[in-house]
Amino acid sequence: MPTDSVTLVEMAPRDGLQNEALLVSTAIKIELIERLARSGLTRIEAASFVSPKWVPQMADGQAVLLGIKRQPQVSYGALTPNLQGLKAALVAGADQVAVFTAASESFCQHNINASIATSLDRFAPLLALAKQSQIPVRGYVSTALDCPYEGAVSPTAVAKVARDLYQLGCDEISLGDTLGTGTPQRVIAMLHAVSQEVPMAQLAVHFHDTYGQALANVYAALEQGIRIIDSSVAGLGGCPYAPGAAGNLATEDLVYLLEGLGLKTGVSLASLVQTGRWISTQLGRRNGSKVGLAWMK
Ligand code: HMG
Ligand code: MG
Repeated sequence: MPTDSVTLVEMAPRDGLQNEALLVSTAIKIELIERLARSGLTRIEAASFVSPKWVPQMADGQAVLLGIKRQPQVSYGALTPNLQGLKAALVAGADQVAVFTAASESFCQHNINASIATSLDRFAPLLALAKQSQIPVRGYVSTALDCPYEGAVSPTAVAKVARDLYQLGCDEISLGDTLGTGTPQRVIAMLHAVSQEVPMAQLAVHFHDTYGQALANVYAALEQGIRIIDSSVAGLGGCPYAPGAAGNLATEDLVYLLEGLGLKTGVSLASLVQTGRWISTQLGRRNGSKVGLAWMK
């Protein structure tokens, strides 16, 4: 494994909180983002400009983005499913936005009420405005391994959607194991197919940890050359349209692994652990990070 650096994309304020049943206050969301920025993370997905009828927890995205004390080295991102979302994100000052679709039709329909083809059509004007505004766009491909409604998803299907997003102008593609059911050999096969279409340097991995495989999957992805990894402090996370899925890989556990491998992250593990502990208390949840739990003893 070469000694170099890995970029972490922090999901807790968005993926981490979107599935929380009780509304989390804007003040707590802001404090979470500020704490994460202080720990050294340089990319934080801070909000989601989706329909508040679909995901009420994310309805205060504008107040969150406008309320944070910004760190100049940090890029604050937001999910934007359509032009309406992008316009709101621009007003709120998002530094980066993300469109999201899926490799399986049923999940796409459940999540954004559109077929994959329609979702891509919607993204074209969004990407044009984002480019004009000089805002980088990330594209998510959900169900990159399994779909909650259709089962296993073929690497070819994932590669096709990733290619379409890349050709539309997405700067980076994040491949989501939405259900957290994947295992390393399948991750390798999927990455092999996708990297025929999109350069490895522009691919990210996004593992939910339902079956406890996320760290093993990260290791496999690192060996394939992936250097952008999504994770969420305290292992928070889940998609309201992926029943049974657990949180994302915990950022603390990821940083511990990467440090052990000699890969640089620029993040303070001690500070992350404190934040994971703090947000778990705020939400009344058991800390989902093994490192966070071990560190507390
Ligand atoms: P729709 O109902 O088909 O949309 O939803 P519509 O265009 O017909 O509009 C219906 C209403 O929504 C209208 O309001 C619009 O104004 C409003 P009304 O006239 O009824 O009062 N609306 C909006 N409001 C605010 N912001 C917007 C917006 N767009 C429309 N941007 C839509 C389509 C995509 C909007 C909806 O399905 C939606 O919001 N879905 C989001 C679901 C979601 O957030 N899922 C979780 C994030 S994805 C994820 O977690 C996976 C990921 O982590 C990777 C992985 O793990 O795989 C990224
Ligand atoms: Mg996710």
